[in-house]
Amino acid sequence: MSDYDLIVRGGTVVTASDQFRADIGIRDGRIFAVAERLEAGPVLDAGGLMVLPGGVDSHCHIEQPRPGGGSDEESFSTGSVSALAGGTTSLVSFSTQFKGGGVLEQLAEYRRRAATGAMVDYAFHQIITDPTDTVIHDELPQVVASGVRSLKVFLTYDGVRLDDRQYLAVLSAARRLGCLVTVHCENYDAIAWRSAALLADGRAAPKYHAWSRPSIVEREATHRAIALAELVDTPIEIFHVSCPEAAEEIARAQARGVKVWGETCPQYFVLSGSDMDRPGFEGAKFMCSPSPRDAAASAGLWQAIRQHTLEVVSSDHSGHCFEGTKGKRIAGTDAPFTKIPNGIPGLAARLPLLWSEGVASGRISASDFVRLTATQPARLFGLAAKGRIAPGADADLVLWDPTRRTRLTNATMQHAIDYTPYEGMEVTGWPVVTVRRGEVVMRDGVVQAQPGSGRYIAVPAYDFIKPRGVLPDGFDAAALS
Ligand code: URP
Ligand code: ZN
Ligand code: ZN
Repeated sequence: MSDYDLIVRGGTVVTASDQFRADIGIRDGRIFAVAERLEAGPVLDAGGLMVLPGGVDSHCHIEQPRPGGGSDEESFSTGSVSALAGGTTSLVSFSTQFKGGGVLEQLAEYRRRAATGAMVDYAFHQIITDPTDTVIHDELPQVVASGVRSLKVFLTYDGVRLDDRQYLAVLSAARRLGCLVTVHCENYDAIAWRSAALLADGRAAPKYHAWSRPSIVEREATHRAIALAELVDTPIEIFHVSCPEAAEEIARAQARGVKVWGETCPQYFVLSGSDMDRPGFEGAKFMCSPSPRDAAASAGLWQAIRQHTLEVVSSDHSGHCFEGTKGKRIAGTDAPFTKIPNGIPGLAARLPLLWSEGVASGRISASDFVRLTATQPARLFGLAAKGRIAPGADADLVLWDPTRRTRLTNATMQHAIDYTPYEGMEVTGWPVVTVRRGEVVMRDGVVQAQPGSGRYIAVPAYDFIKPRGVLPDGFDAAALS
């Protein structure tokens, strides 16, 4: 008679606060016991390895519908394979809204796609591009009732960006409904103005993408996003912080007690604006927003991580193939930088890159790594059973070889995109086995899971993102709007 369905034996367990040698006993997909020695059950040998919580990637663009039909090139099934290969067991992706349309139909279709394809567990952010009265007052309460507790807004990009008044409407709805708002912070008009001048001067190559959006446009929008959130008293997370100037705005607000969190991504540690200055169209492979910057900016981000200003490292996985006519070349090979789709793939590379640059390079501890990649994103987005190694949590684990050296190639990424911006980079630290709810779903790079076996995580109300109750003049405008 077995006490456990699986015992993970002899590994070094790493949590967000601690590191110790222990066995982990799993029953019914959950962690049942963590103890020095457990008996009676099938054994998964973790000797010589670290045992980390499965990665939680809280910012992934998967199978996201596009205006005019179709969706981006990573599907829930291909994205799941990539995630599991890279040690990530849960993700948060985006249900979208097209201007002029509602959100409920899109969400229902998106849930159907995820239910059919996903092999990782997943929750959703709801993108709001058009906060009409119907969406805000009739549809969003239903979205929240279905388990979506975070809204996503863009302060830039044609077709999706919100002006300040619209952003205030979303912040107000989030406050009333108990949601977190996640924000893409760049100043739309400043980018449009600089882009027009660059194009007028004949500077259309991919490298001018970086010139169109220097860090000052990110800092301004970050400051504004926080100030307006403070006005409404709505907790927010600033997505993909690329530079210390934006991190500084977050730190100043945090010091005032504002509930604002910051996320960054591995690309801002290992890529730079000069990667877009490659011959021909090659630079498009590195084009994302905000733009990767330079070594000084990366050093500033590490400092912000060590100071806990930035507490989440996500991939912002956003795959557009390099070849063909649907992805980076959708507007042709000679397209100006303004017409090349933004975003880079990075689901499978996220953990190895952060371990290599962070832990193996001595910048952060193994516990910091766990906090940034699993525990804190789970806590921030209300994924209560995820991101922890403790009795009661889902048995999502990665057996991690902290010293294994691996050369990243597109094949090791196992995604649907035809390139990786990290091709040829050598990393230290690698996922050897991935366990999802007690089941071994990846061993030595071979993923074995059924499409549709991932579960939707309906997020209930949770205290961590409760507003502070601090309002200018004590007047709650959100309650009346
Ligand atoms: O360039 C990026 N980051 N593309 C993905 C969409 C977004 O802005 O997050
Ligand atoms: Zn963004
Ligand atoms: Zn994104």
